[in-house]
Amino acid sequence: MKFPHKITENVDWNSIRTHTGAVAGGRPSPKFLLFLVILASSIYVLFTITFLFSSHPCHDNHPLPTAADRHHEYHSNATDHQEKTELKHIMFGIAASASLWEKRKEYLKLWWRPEKEMRGYVWLDRAVKTFPNDILPRILISGNTSGFRYTNKKGHRSAIRISRIVSETVRLGVNGVRWFVMGDDDTVFITDNLVRVLSKYDHGGFYYIGSSSESHVQNIAFSYLMAYGGGGFAISYPLAVAIEEMQDRCIKRYPSLYGSDDRMQACMAELGVPLTKELGFHQCDIYGDLFGILAAHPVTPLVTLHHLDLIQPIFPNMTRVQSLKHLMLPMKFDSAGLVQQSICYEVEKKWTITVSWGFAVQVFRGYLTPKEVEIPPRTFSNWYKNTDYKGYAFNTRPIARNPCQKAFIFYLSKAKLDLSTNVTETQYMHHRVTQLECKWKMPDPGSLEKIVVYKKTDPHLWDRSPRRNCCRVKASKKKSLILEVSVCKEMEISAI
Ligand SMILES: *[C@@H]1O[C@H](CO)[C@@H](O)[C@H](O)[C@H]1NC(C)=O
Ligand SMILES: *[C@@H]1O[C@H](CO)[C@@H](O)[C@H](O)[C@H]1NC(C)=O
Ligand SMILES: *[C@@H]1O[C@H](CO)[C@@H](O)[C@H](O)[C@H]1NC(C)=O
Repeated sequence: MKFPHKITENVDWNSIRTHTGAVAGGRPSPKFLLFLVILASSIYVLFTITFLFSSHPCHDNHPLPTAADRHHEYHSNATDHQEKTELKHIMFGIAASASLWEKRKEYLKLWWRPEKEMRGYVWLDRAVKTFPNDILPRILISGNTSGFRYTNKKGHRSAIRISRIVSETVRLGVNGVRWFVMGDDDTVFITDNLVRVLSKYDHGGFYYIGSSSESHVQNIAFSYLMAYGGGGFAISYPLAVAIEEMQDRCIKRYPSLYGSDDRMQACMAELGVPLTKELGFHQCDIYGDLFGILAAHPVTPLVTLHHLDLIQPIFPNMTRVQSLKHLMLPMKFDSAGLVQQSICYEVEKKWTITVSWGFAVQVFRGYLTPKEVEIPPRTFSNWYKNTDYKGYAFNTRPIARNPCQKAFIFYLSKAKLDLSTNVTETQYMHHRVTQLECKWKMPDPGSLEKIVVYKKTDPHLWDRSPRRNCCRVKASKKKSLILEVSVCKEMEISAI
């Protein structure tokens, strides 16, 4: 796509050249030399004055002086800077629309905590009815964007309004904020994990953190360098201040873009700030069952889920909202370990077992290597339905056709925490589906009714280098399996 815009904002290099006459050809005239001397001296004087009167040396080489000033103000409290990043340092900006609000607010209620614990606003296009008992962020109405051109034929001009949430939030004049986190009204955040991810980065630098789409085609159409808005993304404080300075002018240069997030990325590109990818943000540009992605999650904390109206409920037999609430149960006990995969084997019966803690356990007949089961099975379809495995931005594997190779799936039914030991007990019930007969002469996992997993809570899991936990079979009965999940012991590996 080509955009009809000038490369730089205020500086017109051609006019500078004409005025100084430097490219006029031949030797420079005496008049021109005198001009150069005066110019050089004025620049020198200007710099000296600036240096004398500036109260601080440069921080991060901010290109925009006012941004640097505000940045300095914020950092003047040095002890505050040392403190570990917490939820209170995050300012949320939720993009929503009045027409869908009644339905979508149910997703927000799943994770939003009262004002004392969480800060943020929902940005709407017009006022809606509110209910005093709802625990939800305060609602603000976005500024008028009728002065901005929008020329994309497929999209909607609300993209401009949504893109400007970052600027409008900065303009509210927030205090003690380190990160601005954007999401949609149908994004669910695992906030403890969001904090874990953000605390790895220096909030005093310029960071733009999020993730791509699952769809390779989407990423080609937009950009692999863009944080998809619905998956949620984070902008460090000084970067948000810099964005606020330039965003309105920047947006005007890209009237033909489709969405709010590609407008944001266009401005990031002008600032030269790349996307820092964190794979726990999930845009969920898929149809069908998210199961494969949650059962074989990358070794990174689960931060968000999105497009919850488009995908099936993540647990069978539940509504979408109920199914997410169900996932919050184990999350409350051990958010760091939520949907983390571990792989082990029932050696006697020759079964492969993979646990996605707090979500589901799968049992397979035979020996599948970790290299295989760490790849998500395609339980979902692509947004561009005619594409196959080439349509994804990550590895996927097909679901086996052979009935003997089908997974037996057990979904989370109960979760408990023993406060005296910090050991969680999660129970997973067999989700029976009609399976074709298997002729292999070996024990049938179909006899299992439930699987119980014991795991100690591990809030510091992500303070260490990333590694999957190990699982072990503690007891193998006809109708149940008892498993233990923990940090791998010395030299312990997942193999038969
Ligand atoms: C938005 O601004 C335009 C002029 O720029 C004005 O005509 C219009 O009435 C405004 N809309 C609202 C909702 O304030
Ligand atoms: C789902 O609901 C049906 C009917 O209410 C019930 O028979 C079945 O056992 C339920 N399945 C699960 C996994 O809870
Ligand atoms: C249980 O976890 C809490 C919170 O992480 C911790 O303060 C406490 O010491 C732990 N107790 C045991 C017995 O490990």
